[in-house]
Amino acid sequence: MNSQARITALGTYTPDRILTNFDLEQMIDTSDEWIRQRTGIRERRIAAADQFTSSLCFAAIEDMLQRYQKQVSDVDLIIVCTSTPDYPFPSVASLIQARFQIKQAGAIDLSATCAGFTYGLHLANGLITAGLQRKVLVIGAETLSKVTDYSDRTTCILFGDGAGAVLVERDPEQPSFHAAHLGSKGDGGVHLFRTGLSTRLLEQHGHTAEGKIVQNGREVMKWALKTVPTGMQAVMEQAQATLDQVDWFIPHSANLRMIESICERSGYPLEQTLYSLEYFGNTSAATIPLALDLGIKQGKVQSGDKLLLFGFGGGLVYAGLLITWNPHSQPGNRQEEINGAF
Ligand code: UT7
Repeated sequence: MNSQARITALGTYTPDRILTNFDLEQMIDTSDEWIRQRTGIRERRIAAADQFTSSLCFAAIEDMLQRYQKQVSDVDLIIVCTSTPDYPFPSVASLIQARFQIKQAGAIDLSATCAGFTYGLHLANGLITAGLQRKVLVIGAETLSKVTDYSDRTTCILFGDGAGAVLVERDPEQPSFHAAHLGSKGDGGVHLFRTGLSTRLLEQHGHTAEGKIVQNGREVMKWALKTVPTGMQAVMEQAQATLDQVDWFIPHSANLRMIESICERSGYPLEQTLYSLEYFGNTSAATIPLALDLGIKQGKVQSGDKLLLFGFGGGLVYAGLLITWNPHSQPGNRQEEINGAF
């Protein structure tokens, strides 16, 4: 891949309110032990009644601007990857354009569920590499708590709210992107959906939760365990590299048991895998940037590291990317400028 794009900055945000497994014990027939054993999740963050996906995006962008001393006034495209926009329209991206008074930017929301962030990065890279854009804001953000059926114990234990924002800028000298592999299995859509204008999937599923997430967790798990390890290999083949050259694997944080199986099947060490589910739950398009940020804050991810990101979820869709983490230096924490090419 002859990329010209570099990921230069990152910021994240999660709401203050915590919903623990013990809180859920008071709401449904479940237990902290069951949830931790089956998913690895301990707690998740829940947006306030007046906080929507745009609010989370604003806060993640502010975090990024402050940490990397960046500006977004010259961004020329905003891509918000979300399944829970404030409105069907206007887009969250347009709300961001207005909030930050960005003068000349295209604005779109991208719908690819838990693969949204990796799809968004792939598009940003493609558009910059083609010479069509110069500076793209990509955000994965969700307020899943607003579309979660808290009477369905098989789904409500999983989901939480959060946001992660990155800047992707033109930099032919130090590109971040090495390889990508995308795919979709549309006939599996019935296993994970939310009703919209049509309720056909709901009727097919025999469920009553209109407007809420409906999931057949076992089917999604089966698909993911088959698809992700193969997809990881496809990314590496495209990069003409091998998994042992990857410093950190960041899969979508849906379920720790699933991540363990993916690692086992692909032969990739769990110890070099980053996830955000333990304290944030499954935040769909936000899980990967949240996990990356945790890895950075814990001193695990260093500039120059090779990261294998792999998003997957409702659609069913997936997108895997091999990148170099080589952001611009953070003031007061000068990082080396490391060439990203393999
Ligand atoms: O980001 C989108 C992608 N989504 C996913 O990747 C989801 C993937 N799937 C999963 O994470 C798991 O399938 C779940 C966590 C949703 C479910 O875990 P599981 O190990 O597959 O459980 P199961 O559905 O096979 O259910 C086992 C038992 C059932 O009881 P019986 O029929 O064996 O008596 C369930 O009724 O566990 C029961 N159960 C629960 N028990 C206590 C289901 N949910 C709960 C619960 N608390 N919350």
